[in-house]
Order: sequence, then structure tokens, then C-alpha cells
Amino acid sequence: KNRIRTFARTVLVTILAGGGYVIWRSYEQRHPGEQLPHDPKLPTVVVLGNGWASTAFLKELDNSGYNVVVISPRNYFLFTPLLPSVTVGTLSARSILEPTRFLTRHLKRKTEVYEGEVYEVDPEKKTVRFVDNSEIKGEVDGTEISYDYLVYAVGAENQTFGIKGVKENACFLKEVWDAEKIRTRIVDCIEAANFSGQTQEEIDRLLSFVVVGGGPTGVEYAGELHDFLMEDLGNWYPDLADRIKITLIEALPNVLPMFSKQLIDYTMSTFQENKINVQTKTMVKEVQEKKLIAQNEKKELVEYPYGLLVWATGNTARQVTKDLMNRLSSTQNSRRGLLVDEHLRLLGSDGIFALGDCTATNYAPTAQVASQQGRYLARVFSKLHKKELLLKELEQAKQVGAEPAKLDSLANAVIRASNIAPFHYSHQGSLAYIGSDKAIADLPVFQGNLAAAGLATYYFWRSAYISQLFSLRNRLLVGTDWLKTKVLGRDVSRA
Ligand code: FAD
Ligand code: NAI
Repeated sequence: KNRIRTFARTVLVTILAGGGYVIWRSYEQRHPGEQLPHDPKLPTVVVLGNGWASTAFLKELDNSGYNVVVISPRNYFLFTPLLPSVTVGTLSARSILEPTRFLTRHLKRKTEVYEGEVYEVDPEKKTVRFVDNSEIKGEVDGTEISYDYLVYAVGAENQTFGIKGVKENACFLKEVWDAEKIRTRIVDCIEAANFSGQTQEEIDRLLSFVVVGGGPTGVEYAGELHDFLMEDLGNWYPDLADRIKITLIEALPNVLPMFSKQLIDYTMSTFQENKINVQTKTMVKEVQEKKLIAQNEKKELVEYPYGLLVWATGNTARQVTKDLMNRLSSTQNSRRGLLVDEHLRLLGSDGIFALGDCTATNYAPTAQVASQQGRYLARVFSKLHKKELLLKELEQAKQVGAEPAKLDSLANAVIRASNIAPFHYSHQGSLAYIGSDKAIADLPVFQGNLAAAGLATYYFWRSAYISQLFSLRNRLLVGTDWLKTKVLGRDVSRA
């Protein structure tokens, strides 16, 4: 009896403590304190973008020594690893968004945040020009701003390799509106197939969901689509669900080339079990409104009729980045992205740091790399500020004729603050969800690699991502969505 009572008491205390923590954190988040005002004497840091790199930078930054301005066409951070779950309604879009103001309002000094798209960076004049490209505009919808330091992290855009018809006919999976568009189109295709008198051939086309690109984006989306089909669509469209066909087309001999061989095999066999038709060594050549044309291993042209086509073939540089490269063409000669040194300084420029997917480095374009670079750069800025303060102190000490020992110690401190270690990437492993409650993980352990797959890895995947979400608010929303999906299923309304 005593044991039961102790256990019950422990559970109660844990629940109360957990609840108290949530309430306290939520209150603290919703009631930010006073911030230091803008100080014209301080250097201005302009941050372009609010994706993984910039958000990690802002989160870690002590901006008491800087006036910070953030410019991005969207006013929120998007947690991309969970974006494929939004395409089928496992998660709702807003659960993985975090308004940038929620973050900047907690910084030490007041920070300006502008929703705008930068279209020109002038590295000589040290200015950026940006416009309001949203639907509603005021009288002023374009302006120029000067910087002392520029943190350039605008990410990349979807790679199409200039293949005819892709931009006009395919859906991409990069932004939250892409995921919402896919979600609507899936249901739209099924409703169109269900329309009275639809021909058999047209039903098959409408129920053909094709994914191009066997990288992690394409694989995760195919896995989520399979779950939607098995767990929900089968109940609500029993006559059509069996005819839904998921096809994944990949140009290389394997999907997921960045994962270890056994995980690639595991993914392929899971997809086979799940009746996801994987066509490797098949290169898409042209996309038309209702079908795509691909070249297979035997160099034959094969047609794939589709109702919905999702295109996930990686990244390419944005126009604003290409323009910046052209301005610095003597040093910026990589077609993959911006070249930086080991401190993330943009080659050929003064005061510009570039990080994340817009750069061409030895690292893969991942959130992991971008966020580590963002955190690193925040530490660089702290050191730069510290150095500034020490230099001032040294100057004052010289003016008042301080003792040589004091001057020496200050000079040494300046040297230490100037000594900034280069960026070092620490790989924490690769994770991907592949559908039917299975995930794969390549994890670095000691000097080797641990490859894990299956249900336990799926729970690890979930806990890893929930812990990486940037706020308690997002964690609660994502957790609630997962529970809702399990208990109530996914919604099939075409809202
Ligand atoms: P982004 O996060 O793309 O941010 C770029 C920012 O720049 C955005 O805020 C954008 O609005 C802004 N911007 C764009 N144009 C302009 C402009 N002209 N002016 C100003 N601002 C501009 N990586 C992982 O490590 N693990 C994963 O599980 C994973 N899953 C993914 C799933 C999907 C579906 C996708 C698409 C990507 C995934 N990635 C994952 C990759 C990861 O999202 C990127 O590597 C990461 O977002 C790069 O961060 P970034 O800050 O460079 O760019
Ligand atoms: P990717 O570059 O990783 O893969 C694209 C795939 O498309 C390649 O395998 C390529 O061979 C194929 N392809 C290109 N052209 C083709 C064509 N014409 N026909 C058929 N196939 C074609 O791109 P993805 O998946 O968009 O990922 C982008 C970045 O984001 C990567 O660095 C990736 O690691 C990261 N990411 C990581 C995730 C994770 O860790 N779980 C999830 C999603 C993305």
C-alpha cells in the first residue's frame, strides 16, 4: 500500500511540476521584458532570411553590442524536417512555424524585422535593397538599407535543371504553402477520380501520384503519402483506395545515396512491401500537364501519366545569390553557391558572412549544417563585440597613463578576442522517415557508424525532432497533432 501511495505521489508531483513548468515557460514567452533601445553608435547587422541558419544565429546572438535588422519574405521560421507530414495532414502547418518576432522580442536589444524580399546586395556601398512582395502593400513597398555586417542566409530554391514543363506542372516541397497545396491536390485528385462517369483510364491517371527525386525529401513524402492511403483514404474512399499508385522516380541506381547501404536496402524493401513503385536509373526528361516522359535504364522513353507530381531534385542558387556572385565574379566562381572562408566570410567581400544552403562548401545542404553555422557565427559576433570593448578600454587606459602591466593584460585580452577559431562541423547523424511507422538512422558512434531502422528508430526520430523544435509552443502543438492523428485520423476535407 505504502509503495502504491509513494508511486501515486511521485506521479502527481511530476505532473504538477511539468504543468507548472509549461505554464511558467508559456507566460515567460508571451510576456517579453523591456529591451535596450536602438543605439546609432553601434554597428548594424543586417540578417537576410529567417530559416535554419539565421534563426540559429539570432537565437544564440547577444545583440547588446549591435543593432540588428532581419529581412525575409516570410515572417516566420519553418521547421522543414517535419514539412512532409504537413502534405497529408499528419501535422497542421502552423504547428511547425514559429513567428520570428517571438524570437527577436526576447533579444537583449530591440530588433527590426521586415517582411520583404531582398533583390540586390551592393558589397561596395554596403547596402541591400528589398521590396514588399506580399498581396497588401503600403505606399512604400521598396527601400534600401545600409549594413556594417551582413549575415547572408537566403537558402536556395528548387532545382529543375531547366527541364521543360516542371515549373508549370509540378508541385515542390520547400515552403509551407507547397505542402498545403499538395494536401489540397491529393484530395482534389481523388474527388475528381470519384466524379460520376469518370473513365477508367482517367481514374487511373488521377490516382497516380508521382514523386521525382529519391533524396530524403522525395522518400519522406512518399512514406507520408503511403500512411495517408493506408490509415485514412482506404476508409473514406474504399472503392478508389486500391487503385491509388505511388511512383518514385530516381535518376541514380539508388534512393538516399547519403545513407549507408543497409539502410538503402531496408528502405527499398519497405517501399516494395508498401507497394511504392520505385523506378531507379530513370531520368525525367519532360513534364507535360498530365504525364511526364522519362528515360529508363535501356535508354527508352517511358510515359508516366499522373494526377499529382511532386518534384524534389535538390537545390539551386536563388537569383539574388547569382547576382551577388556576378558582382564578385573574380572570387565567386562556383556554380553551386557562394564561396566562404573557414570563418564563413564571403570571399571577395568586406563585412559579409554567408551560411546555410546558399553557400558551396564541403558539407551537405542540411538544417544541421545551417544551424551549427548560425550558432558559430553568433559566437564570432560576441567575440568581435568583446574585442571592440577591449580596444576602447585599452585606448582609455593609454590616455589616463595606466600601468604597463594593465596595458599588457588588456593588449593580451585583445589578441585573445581576435583569435577566432574556424567553423567546425560536428555531424550528429542522418535521420529519415520512410512510412508505416518506420524510420532510418545513420548515427556516428565513437569512430564508426550505427545504422538503425524500424519502429524503435521511428520513436527516436520523433523524439529527436520534437526536442529540436525551437519552442515549447511548437513542441506542444506537434505533440498534440500526433496524438490527434492517432486518435481521430487525418482530415480528408479539401479545405
Ligand atoms: P532556409 O531554411 O531555406 O532559409 C532561407 C531563408 O531565406 C528563408 O527564411 C527564406 O524566406 C529567406 N529568403 C529567401 N529569399 C530571400 C530574399 N530574396 N531575401 C531575404 N530572404 C530571403 N535538413 C536536415 O538536416 N534534416 C532534415 O530532416 C531535413 N528535412 C528537410 C525536409 C524538407 C522537406 C526540406 C525542403 C529540407 C529539409 N532539410 C533537412 C534541409 C534543410 O531544410 C535546409 O538545409 C535548411 O533549411 C537550410 O537552412 P538555410 O537557413 O540555409 O535556408
Ligand atoms: P537531393 O539532392 O538530396 O536528391 C535529389 C535526387 O533527385 C537525387 O538523388 C537526384 O539523383 C535525383 N534527380 C535529379 N534529377 C532527376 C531527374 N531528372 N529525374 C529523376 N531523378 C532526378 O534533394 P532533396 O531530397 O530535395 O534534399 C535536399 C537537401 O535537403 C539534401 O541535402 C538533403 O540531405 C536535405 N534533406 C535532408 C532530410 C533528412 O535528413 N531527413 C530530409 C529532406 C532533405
